[in-house]
Amino acid sequence: MLNQKSFKLLAILLALMLVLAACGGGGDETDTTEETDSGDTAADTSTDTEDMATEDMATEDMADGEIVLRIFGGNVGQEKEMTQAVADRFMEANPGITVEVVDTPDFVEDRLGVYLQLFEAQSPEGDVFQIDVIWPGDLAEHFVDLNEYGAADVAGDHFDAIVQNNTVDGKLIAIPWFTDAGLLYYRSDLLEKYGYDGPPATWDDLEEMATTIQDGERAEGNQDFWGYVWQGNAYEGLTCDALEWIASNDGGSIVEPDGTISINNPEAAAIVDQAAGWVGTISPEGVTAFGEEDARNMWQAGNAAFMRNWPYAYSLGNAEDSVIAGLFDVSPLPAGDSGSGAATLGGWQLAVSKYSEHPEEAAKLALFMASYDEQKYRAIEGSLNPTIKALYDDPDVLEAAPFFGSLYDVFVNAVARPSTATAPRYSDVSAAFFNSVHSVLTGEQDASTAFEVLELDLADIIEQ
Ligand code: GLC
Repeated sequence: MLNQKSFKLLAILLALMLVLAACGGGGDETDTTEETDSGDTAADTSTDTEDMATEDMATEDMADGEIVLRIFGGNVGQEKEMTQAVADRFMEANPGITVEVVDTPDFVEDRLGVYLQLFEAQSPEGDVFQIDVIWPGDLAEHFVDLNEYGAADVAGDHFDAIVQNNTVDGKLIAIPWFTDAGLLYYRSDLLEKYGYDGPPATWDDLEEMATTIQDGERAEGNQDFWGYVWQGNAYEGLTCDALEWIASNDGGSIVEPDGTISINNPEAAAIVDQAAGWVGTISPEGVTAFGEEDARNMWQAGNAAFMRNWPYAYSLGNAEDSVIAGLFDVSPLPAGDSGSGAATLGGWQLAVSKYSEHPEEAAKLALFMASYDEQKYRAIEGSLNPTIKALYDDPDVLEAAPFFGSLYDVFVNAVARPSTATAPRYSDVSAAFFNSVHSVLTGEQDASTAFEVLELDLADIIEQ
């Protein structure tokens, strides 16, 4: 009885904390921008809060001995539905265990805020956490070593670099779930219509093609049409996009693996200034408030010639109800002065909280979710890239997402953000970087001025 009471109290406390996080979490831009995910973010979080309160009541009604596991997962595109489907399959195979799926805010900073509230309270409310590829170094202390729960037998099936990324002080703190890399989406029908025989090889080509197609489509009556949509809000997604521009222009990767702060260089500044020139010309002014879903919505409505996004947008764009189904393809992102394009490495892992009351069962669930069959399901249904190497040879997977094969090199050569080199301060490093880039995109200053200051700020953050 006492146990149930304190559980309920904890849930109420958590609900309050989530509301506070929704009001105060994340960067300023993220929170105040109306037309973007930030609105969803607050809404999502308050829905979660209600869900959790209701779920808690349900928990109390359960028969003694019933185990309830809670997964904190993503809700971008089809993520939540797919996580629910795997949870259902797990429950069917494991009577006596109930799995509840809690969706979390889209923006990485907001999601991290929700997680940190739970971890700081050492709360048992969350058992399995979907964590970003950039978080192992910052969050390792809150997770169990999955190698002690059976992961050692399967870790070798996954990409070595991701397993390495998720191994902190010899402990495997998360099992890889899906990997991500930035891609260029292009409208193949429009390229043909305007006489282009393939996607742009360079950023200059992209500018030229985007301008021509935008002018042509507007002249034909679609005033809402834009050349290029991408992620320009001041959040982690902008760190990803800007790193791609900079790496493709021989401008390094912000902070190098040996800890050298490299951002203050002319190649980095030149390409970020070039990107600032897209705002209001080939990209809408509002792109500086866009997250992944804002770009996808404009693209999927048929109102953009090009889009930078992650692989998840592929299956959604080809869904039956999509007006662009069959009319687009994906390619590597364009090159700058380096002569080749760069893709930022993204992706998500499953970690088990140290504060879970059922680490054994939670680890079983995480390993089930990350298994061959479940990654196959997500690859086919959601075009989410598997982390299990063998799935890239699976004919069913390649049929559903042919680019997993044709762009394989993009996925294995993706550029990592400096999360290992700057752990446990990566989130602060990234925030300083995206705010600096954002100030260039919105015309407050030029990139070389911004990066002179950023270099000093990063030195302070890293030395702290
Ligand atoms: C995607 C990536 C993730 C990245 C995020 C930025 O979800 O997988 O690694 O941090 O986008 O918005």
